[in-house]
Amino acid sequence: MNLPQPLSLLLLLLLSLLSSSQVSPTLLQDKLALLDFSNHLPHLHYLNWNDSSPVCSHWTGITCNADGSRVISLRLPGVGFHGPIPANTLGRLSALQILSLRSNGITGPFPSDLFNLTELSFLYLQFNRFTGPLPFDFSVWKNLTVVNLSNNGFNGTIPGSLSKLTQLQGLNLANNSVSGEIPDLYLPNLQQINLSFNKLTGIVPKWLLKFPSSVFRGNKVVFGNYASPPSDASNYYPKPGNFGKLSETAVLGIVAGCCVLGLIGFAFLVVVCCLRRREEEDVLFSGKLEKGKMSPERVISRNQDANNRLFFFEGCSYAFDLEDLLRASAEVLGKGTFGTAFKAILEDANTVVVKRLKEVSAGKREFEQQMEVVGSIKHANVSELRAYYYSKDEKLLVYDYFTRGSVAAMLHGKRGEERIPLDWDTRLRISIGAARGIARIHAENNGKLVHGNVKSSNIFLNSQNYGCVSDHGLATIMSSLGPPIARAAGYRAPEVTDTRKSSQSSDVYSFGVLLLELLTGKSPVYSNGADEVIHLVRWVHSVVREEWTAEVFDVELLKYTNIEEEMVELLQIALACVTRMPEQRPKMPDVVKMIENVRQSEYEKTQSSEAKSENSTTPQYFSGLESSTPL
Ligand SMILES: *[C@@H]1O[C@H](CO)[C@@H](O)[C@H](O)[C@H]1NC(C)=O
Ligand SMILES: *[C@@H]1O[C@H](CO)[C@@H](O)[C@H](O)[C@H]1NC(C)=O
Ligand SMILES: *[C@@H]1O[C@H](CO)[C@@H](O)[C@H](O)[C@H]1NC(C)=O
Ligand SMILES: *[C@@H]1O[C@H](CO)[C@@H](O)[C@H](O)[C@H]1NC(C)=O
Ligand SMILES: *[C@@H]1O[C@H](CO)[C@@H](O)[C@H](O)[C@H]1NC(C)=O
Ligand SMILES: *[C@@H]1O[C@H](CO)[C@@H](O)[C@H](O)[C@H]1NC(C)=O
Ligand SMILES: *[C@@H]1O[C@H](CO)[C@@H](O)[C@H](O)[C@H]1NC(C)=O
Repeated sequence: MNLPQPLSLLLLLLLSLLSSSQVSPTLLQDKLALLDFSNHLPHLHYLNWNDSSPVCSHWTGITCNADGSRVISLRLPGVGFHGPIPANTLGRLSALQILSLRSNGITGPFPSDLFNLTELSFLYLQFNRFTGPLPFDFSVWKNLTVVNLSNNGFNGTIPGSLSKLTQLQGLNLANNSVSGEIPDLYLPNLQQINLSFNKLTGIVPKWLLKFPSSVFRGNKVVFGNYASPPSDASNYYPKPGNFGKLSETAVLGIVAGCCVLGLIGFAFLVVVCCLRRREEEDVLFSGKLEKGKMSPERVISRNQDANNRLFFFEGCSYAFDLEDLLRASAEVLGKGTFGTAFKAILEDANTVVVKRLKEVSAGKREFEQQMEVVGSIKHANVSELRAYYYSKDEKLLVYDYFTRGSVAAMLHGKRGEERIPLDWDTRLRISIGAARGIARIHAENNGKLVHGNVKSSNIFLNSQNYGCVSDHGLATIMSSLGPPIARAAGYRAPEVTDTRKSSQSSDVYSFGVLLLELLTGKSPVYSNGADEVIHLVRWVHSVVREEWTAEVFDVELLKYTNIEEEMVELLQIALACVTRMPEQRPKMPDVVKMIENVRQSEYEKTQSSEAKSENSTTPQYFSGLESSTPL
């Protein structure tokens, strides 16, 4: 997500806090009701009501109240709804004030669910195919201001309960099959009415004579012998045309009012949170702020507190503190498996990536120990952790920023448009670099450190254009993420059911998937357009089994000559990595050698064919694979 204007990191952190972790329970109820509604009412047009996106800000047609706890307006005109309103759905949106489902193809009787919406003020159901009688008891909607049921198939009579609607300003029943006489009710605020093209009979009550006679057209009504003739009546009252505008402005006013209220409410929340955070910061930073007037005892306790500061690793050339970081202008880069990444531009024009971890399960001590291990790795193919911050409610990691973005973006971004295809040499360099980086990580902590989250969106290009891995060593300190985390699913080795139980051999598997991604240009999990989810590993296996190996390679690679052998070799390495049994997968240092050999072996082959078989560094499982898998 690119925000139009850079916001401060602090604000972004607050925003993500507000939007992600604090969904009110009432909103959740409303959300479930809405999903039940849309899932049970067929519609022709796509509705972006995604379970995982925020209801109030992202769902089409939805407006929430100021504090985001209730849905107050649902407007879905012309989305091609057809069929009757499913029962027990809309009725649960008990805070709903505006409902517009006009211009759809909704059938069935007047939805009984609406009787539960006691706050309803605006109801627009015109241009549908409702049938059956008009609702008998209008008195449940005390706040009803505009009712438009025109252009449907309603029949029955106009209910006398309408007289209870003291707020009613507009009533449109035009072009239905409403019969009987027009009841003599008094609606003090009524400014517009249209009863034309129905089956009404009898005498038009006197109180309605302020409206032009055209609103009764297409009925069998007669005008009685009143004191003043109806033809003059229209001159005494506002022209009907004006009302349309009036009502529109009224609605707009209400909507604008809601928006303003929403904004004010939100601004208030932000200020409150900022204040809270300020207080925390003051606690954190008062050591610095008040150095001059501190007593020695306080300095000591400050020093202990100083553990809460941004901790920089050795050799880091950045000079900023948490305050600078929070003040920096920031932009959301993306939501990852373990949290949200922000791009923060500091005042000195340095750009860093700040990763905000969610659901860290490790305690402070464990977290620090792990960060020490991760931060101590200095390697050309491992993205350096520059600093971290740990407090009770906030865990931040600071990394370098890579201007070219991740391999995922290079590989999958802007497909089909004017994009610079990732050439074969670069793909090989990404593979070699990433393999070396992961091998280096595996050597750390007495050879026990696990990356835990190898995927193309965590691989970048270093200054020599070789792959450089990031996000390593976090899996073990995070709360367990079950299998359904879709994004990481395509990379996850079959034996891993809990992200915290990642191992070096599951890293090898994930790396194999990355290689397949580089070879095929396809995402690890993708849809084939027919709502079918394809797993890249399975797909490659099936294609290779059918001996259509050439089919797997990315079309973007077809234009390079003389790379077929290299591609096939890399494919073999990838398939060795994604072997089902963890113990049969190669170790990362071996994978590095194999990939380095992809280029070398080309060279050797041309030199001498004997040398190859003798000097072969290819481990045995590799040759085993050759015989079992037709390529
Ligand atoms: C819902 O949103 C998620 C993440 O934004 C996306 O991956 C998923 O495809 C979306 N689902 C639908 C049905 O659009
Ligand atoms: C509507 O209200 C009635 C009684 O007040 C209740 O029994 C029913 O469950 C409610 N329906 C919904 C959908 O909330
Ligand atoms: C209203 O229409 C329904 C069918 O749509 C019909 O069964 C019913 O008899 C009609 N009522 C009146 C009063 O015409
Ligand atoms: C509905 O009317 C009641 C009083 O009749 C009022 O207190 C309430 O605020 C109104 N609700 C809306 C949404 O206007
Ligand atoms: C009802 O709908 C019709 C058709 O869309 C529109 O012309 C009319 O202004 C609406 N009436 C009210 C009271 O909103
Ligand atoms: C009344 O509705 C029917 C369809 O239900 C439409 O064909 C007709 O044009 C409408 N008449 C008026 C006057 O709006
Ligand atoms: C009343 O409704 C009819 C039928 O939809 C329409 O032709 C007419 O323009 C409407 N009149 C007013 C005053 O809105």
